[in-house]
Amino acid sequence: MTLKVDQDRLTNQIETMATYSDAPAPAVTRVLYSEQDMKARGYLKDLIREVGLSVREDALGNLFARWEGANPERSAVATGSHIDAIPHSGRYDGVVGVLGGLEAIRALKAAGFTPQRPVEIILFTAEEPTRFGVGCLGSRALSGTLSPEEVRALTDDEGKNPDEVRREVGFEGELEEVKLEKGHYHAFVELHIEQGPRLEQQNIPIGVVTNIAAPATLHVTLEGQGGHAGAVLMAERKDALTAGAALSLEVERAARESGSPDTVATVGIFDVHPRAVNSIPSRVFMSVDVRDVERSRRDEVMARIRRAAEDIAGERGVTVDLKTLNVDPPAVCASEVVEAVEVGAKNLSLKSMRMVSRAYHDTLFMSTICPVGMIFIPSKDGISHRPDEYSSPAEIEAGVQVLAETLMRLSS
Ligand code: HGY
Ligand code: MN
Ligand code: MN
Repeated sequence: MTLKVDQDRLTNQIETMATYSDAPAPAVTRVLYSEQDMKARGYLKDLIREVGLSVREDALGNLFARWEGANPERSAVATGSHIDAIPHSGRYDGVVGVLGGLEAIRALKAAGFTPQRPVEIILFTAEEPTRFGVGCLGSRALSGTLSPEEVRALTDDEGKNPDEVRREVGFEGELEEVKLEKGHYHAFVELHIEQGPRLEQQNIPIGVVTNIAAPATLHVTLEGQGGHAGAVLMAERKDALTAGAALSLEVERAARESGSPDTVATVGIFDVHPRAVNSIPSRVFMSVDVRDVERSRRDEVMARIRRAAEDIAGERGVTVDLKTLNVDPPAVCASEVVEAVEVGAKNLSLKSMRMVSRAYHDTLFMSTICPVGMIFIPSKDGISHRPDEYSSPAEIEAGVQVLAETLMRLSS
């Protein structure tokens, strides 16, 4: 069966999707439930209906496009990803998996394939942590990793919670109905850009993900005394910014000294108050993102960061408040899905290599309710979460073809 992927059509769709953005091109910003996010969802639903799939949206805005197949009563094989984009980022992260999933189904339909079980494309409502601080909000709720009460406890910068905002933009139903049971899906496989340099360096078009690193997020607030930049002598200061700077270096040191290159830690947000040239910072808010493929090593680094925060606060006379947002287990991809991807690549005479995903994905949470796998395509210079993020039409086409082959295998 030859699967014809329409590269031009898919490229045009990716470019159109990128226009739904709150940042000037080539950057993309598309935050959960924003006007641009809702427009992008509308565009996607039009494309889905053109392919003849049914559409269901849950109370949080997870969207399910369904191809019934020969036995609608059997558990579905699903693919999918996200279309939300962090501020000033790229146009391929997530989008390749959603539009590529749709293109894979078009190719299978055009080739006359009928799946023996339903096939679904899932748009997860928010994979990025931008608005509510926690990544994978949609797949966490869908898998039951986050309860409705925990979803309602999250707030955005305006103090609103997801339950309020999702109603404002028109999503109906109750959060209690979002959770899907183990076994609801037969398998899940996500196509995604690598967001790293390995595939390009090794000149291999297809990555077969075996493990997904475990993310953890801390929010840290340091409170000092503040005061006049001229009048307060150095010995009398309780400077929140220099305490935060010392802690940031400790975060970096803890990851570098973990004993493994698989440990990474990032201070991505560092807000200073009152942020005035001649005023000693009285308060700092910082985010800490720690990841590792090995949970115990990640947790050890988290513990070391907590200890460092307490020590620095004591030495510098500031107070520290630490809030853990998430401490997730890593995911192991299922052998049956990993092998289905490898066979698909082989059938297409595409070289593939097994690898770890250092970025997290909705697949991380889908792994708690069904067997999962991921297909990676190369990222130019390993760049992602930047406007110059790039994967070529040919690389995307290869990924979509392998996805179509994998869906065919898993749904037969
Ligand atoms: O941060 C991540 O790993 C994902 O790209 N949101
Ligand atoms: Mn991302
Ligand atoms: Mn992503």
